Amino acid sequence: MKFLKIQNYNTLMKSIVLLLLCVVHVNAQVTLPSKQDGFWYKNRIANTKSIVIEAFFDPLCPDSRDSWPPLKLALQHYGSRLSLVVHPFPLPYHDNAFISSRAMHISNQLNTSATYRLLESFFDHQV
Ligand SMILES: *[C@@H]1O[C@H](CO)[C@@H](O)[C@H](O)[C@H]1NC(C)=O
Repeated sequence: MKFLKIQNYNTLMKSIVLLLLCVVHVNAQVTLPSKQDGFWYKNRIANTKSIVIEAFFDPLCPDSRDSWPPLKLALQHYGSRLSLVVHPFPLPYHDNAFISSRAMHISNQLNTSATYRLLESFFDHQV
């Protein structure tokens, strides 16, 4: 096992410092958010008896807009057996998508009932 021999004290110290830097770097990346991201539809928070749908919507995306009416019908049909959480997902190639997603966060902070009305008005007024 000649290759595992440490040549001198300096090499050992360099190895330890390098190892510690790697550990510190990994720890810095593992920070969990303090609360779950997303907006619950009609405050129907998931429970053990409901199915959860997580949707990643860009308020200015035509595909997100088109998927909303059938999803809303399913929510009405299945009632409390279905929970929906929408995560704002602004795409970089949609102008103002980030700002509109921030507006949804602000709206949700002020009045959680208004968040989905705002999302629907973004969908209704897309160009
Ligand atoms: C919250 O939003 C809902 C839906 O837009 C509205 O009916 C209600 O009056 C608002 N509540 C407050 C306190 O502004």
